[in-house]
Amino acid sequence: MKFVAKTLYGLEKVLAEELVDLGAADVQAVNRAVLFTGDKELLYKVNYCSRTALSILMPVADFRIRSKDDLYKGGLKIKWDSYFEVDDTFSIVPVVNSSHFGHTGYAGLILKDSIADYFREKTGRRPSVDTVDPRILINLHISNDLVTISIDSSVIPLFKRGYRQEQSVAPLNEVLAAGILLLSGWNGSATLTDPMCGSGTIPIEAGLIACKVPPGKFRKYFGFQRWKDFDEELFKKVKLRADSLIIPSPVKIFGSDISEQAVQQAKVNVSNAGLNEAISLQVSDFKTIKTVDEESFVFLNPPYGQRLQPDEIDQLYNMIGTTLKHNFPGTTAWLITSNKESVKNIGLKPREKHTLFNGALECILLKYEMYQGTRKKEKI
Ligand SMILES: C[S@@+](CC[C@H](N)C(=O)[O-])C[C@H]1O[C@@H](n2cnc3c(N)ncnc32)[C@H](O)[C@@H]1O
Repeated sequence: MKFVAKTLYGLEKVLAEELVDLGAADVQAVNRAVLFTGDKELLYKVNYCSRTALSILMPVADFRIRSKDDLYKGGLKIKWDSYFEVDDTFSIVPVVNSSHFGHTGYAGLILKDSIADYFREKTGRRPSVDTVDPRILINLHISNDLVTISIDSSVIPLFKRGYRQEQSVAPLNEVLAAGILLLSGWNGSATLTDPMCGSGTIPIEAGLIACKVPPGKFRKYFGFQRWKDFDEELFKKVKLRADSLIIPSPVKIFGSDISEQAVQQAKVNVSNAGLNEAISLQVSDFKTIKTVDEESFVFLNPPYGQRLQPDEIDQLYNMIGTTLKHNFPGTTAWLITSNKESVKNIGLKPREKHTLFNGALECILLKYEMYQGTRKKEKI
């Protein structure tokens, strides 16, 4: 079976590596997605265990069109009754970039009509559309004249892990937080500090990696559980096997924030994720913190600046650079922000730069190697 794992821009390579580790074959990274092949067991496993996939689609047809009518005809040829029954509800998510369609919704309507007519011919009845809680979610992708129709096996995006009850003002997407950690080479064996942890997304994703907790463990449901061919025993086996690998945390993970409210929110989320033992949280101003371990990793997601005056945000980024230099010698620091201008005030030379997206927001991820003592060369 062929599958498409969707992800955030910049995380394609990390996701491809994850999929290979999970046992996928024919793994190929493309823009914001990774193609792979595997069986039903792998589909369940990837949904349950992947940290950087947003959703897993199963393509059911691809064909070329020369007119709108070709979409209707192509849709009619798909054996819809092998995927769902006439009594099941469905919904279509159209993603269209084609001169054949002036607006995206219209392409969705054409496919909906062909599905309804397919069932009417077979059963005399039409399945109903439910855009809120459909049993089957269909993804319609049209790029110029190429149509790909897939069924979404995740439905609720996989970044919605299920542990987040409380969220701060600008939380990181969970998939992005896990992606940064995997991209950084942090492998769960070095001490980790997030001194601006907000609602705790980075420490929690780090805790899940360190303790080998499958990120799907807290989810109530995956789309494939409503499929006609859902194999409950197989899914139980997949979960049991993945859960049997969970270990107590081999590392210390620290989260802190200047806001008492943010730390309270992080505490609730950490507890929901079952990571109270692994993660220590406290209220602190970053400038007062010193590293406990010189070989450790620091991850920072500072405010982007929307709620601050320009000189306040410049001072904040300047303080980050000074604190890293004086209080975190020997550490590897990673910083993610959408504020490209303010990072200049950090005053340290980044060793790596990556472009990533937090939802629709373009961000940069920077790596700093903090050396022992003051190195003038580090100043830019
Ligand atoms: C963009 S948010 C972090 C969001 C977090 N990654 C999450 O997923 O919830 C930035 C955080 O930095 C905190 N902050 C701002 N100045 C700080 C300082 N001087 N020391 C520590 N935390 C600070 C804010 O309170 C805020 O929670």
